[in-house]
Amino acid sequence: MNNEFSPFHNERSKYQPRLPKALQGQVQIQPVSGSAVQIDAEIQKLFPTTTGLETVKLVSNDSSTAPAPGEPITVGVVLSGGPAPGGHNAIAGLFDALKKINPANRLLGFLNGPIGVIQGDHVEITPELVDQYRNTGGFDMIASGRDKIESDEDIERCTRALSMLGASALVVIGGDDSNTNAAVLAEKFKARNAGVQVIGLPKTIDGDMRNDIIETSFGFDTAAKTYAGLVANVARDAKSAKKYTHIIKLMGRAASHVALEVGLQVRPNLTIISEEVEQRGWTLNQVVEQIVDVVVRRSEAGKNYGVIVIPEGLLEFLSDFKVLLQELSILLRDSEEILNAYSSDEDRRQFINMKLLSESARVYATLPDSIQHALLKPDKHGNIPVSQIETDYLLMDLVKLRLKELRLEGKYKGQFAPLHHFFGYEGRCVAPSNFDAEYCYALGYSAAYLIQGGLTGYTVFGQNMLAPTEEWQMGGIPVTSMLNLELRKGKMKPVIKKALVELEGKPFKKFAAERDNWVVNDAYRFVGPIQYYGPPELADARTITLRLERGE
Ligand code: FBP
Repeated sequence: MNNEFSPFHNERSKYQPRLPKALQGQVQIQPVSGSAVQIDAEIQKLFPTTTGLETVKLVSNDSSTAPAPGEPITVGVVLSGGPAPGGHNAIAGLFDALKKINPANRLLGFLNGPIGVIQGDHVEITPELVDQYRNTGGFDMIASGRDKIESDEDIERCTRALSMLGASALVVIGGDDSNTNAAVLAEKFKARNAGVQVIGLPKTIDGDMRNDIIETSFGFDTAAKTYAGLVANVARDAKSAKKYTHIIKLMGRAASHVALEVGLQVRPNLTIISEEVEQRGWTLNQVVEQIVDVVVRRSEAGKNYGVIVIPEGLLEFLSDFKVLLQELSILLRDSEEILNAYSSDEDRRQFINMKLLSESARVYATLPDSIQHALLKPDKHGNIPVSQIETDYLLMDLVKLRLKELRLEGKYKGQFAPLHHFFGYEGRCVAPSNFDAEYCYALGYSAAYLIQGGLTGYTVFGQNMLAPTEEWQMGGIPVTSMLNLELRKGKMKPVIKKALVELEGKPFKKFAAERDNWVVNDAYRFVGPIQYYGPPELADARTITLRLERGE
């Protein structure tokens, strides 16, 4: 790491995350009796040794004297998927707790994600290394990757690598897919008597890995607050310069939690929520009409500016676009040879255009050329990279066209000067908020105790998270209890269900009850950047989503 640290880095590295009371002294694992859930018979067949487990809580055991440290152990840790603020603190918490349990315990960081485990590429996490990264954003201490440990050969190679390194546990820091992968590994290791426990931590800025037990995934708090700060800055510019309409796409994959949180925080003139779009069966045109309506109403009020927020995954929720995507993926798969034989992108585009059924051909034809071409370039797994499509640009273009028509019909007299933005990577590696810094530290710390307790196939959770950190309840939930069978690439696969925005949930209901007031009024809230120091109502604030979901 660069040794010319910024003043912010130097100051922030001194921050000592507070720990939940239960983790401060001797820690004991307490099963929650009756918590083992009924599991689908198919899933039981796939996970014969890791189903039927109970949820556990970590409680303080200060009445007993400290146990003599047992044999030292070696634990591996791997970062999986997109970065999320707080990952380094998760590693720091794991490291500190392992050393507290036994100073001779070792922590190895696998490099560049799951491929590092397969290849045994690792670095030993030392006090010097971990100290450089405490409370910093990013995943660069050991880096991340999106490979999966899936095939029998991968699992064989991991088993060998872990055994050669003497590792008896692996902590997987990742989202829904990576925690599912952790469950698969836990099961396979157990079935082969590999002597390796696997524990997962819930990470993703998307906020879609949560349920009744896991209150939130780490990184969501910091990323959503970062985007809220950026959108608020743009809103203030819009209100000051009074000439631009900003269309802002926010990262968050399929779920609209990030957009909803930013909507609640900042109150843009319009925030589109994909889950609502899907429930209403809206088409691309209908979404365009929504935006046009806002632009027209604002211009009638003399406001030729505004802020419109859209979620990253919107396209996949549009009724007509969904059909187009399905048709395209079948065509791309079945016509691979023919398409490869064409020498130009334009020929490929025309071929596809001819083959699409009429409704899809109509939707396809409305798209700007660059997007028509982008849709024909599947990734190495054959998926159309919808998240790479500039939905912000697409909507801006279509809204412009529609306003032109309205102007010709005499129904719109305003000025429309649109600017489009995508805020995504700006928010994933930010230094964690106090909430994420402490949540991640506690997650890593708890993982060490679940390992000490001999558990495998668990994801660590935190509860009571509106309360001060000292009162959080940490524990572990069996990953198998979160699995469902879903159709993925034509096959039924066990996966952790992605938590999308619930239209009956309190955050959406509050948003829906208030949003009409934000269309023409400039009700923007200028939330400012994340505060790391200062009054707790600023520095320790929870997201509005968490506050509403957990009862405030
Ligand atoms: P994870 O699900 O791995 O946490 O990914 C988060 C995310 O930031 C999504 O919001 C986004 O769609 C995706 O990663 C972008 O992926 P990439 O880093 O491959 O561009």
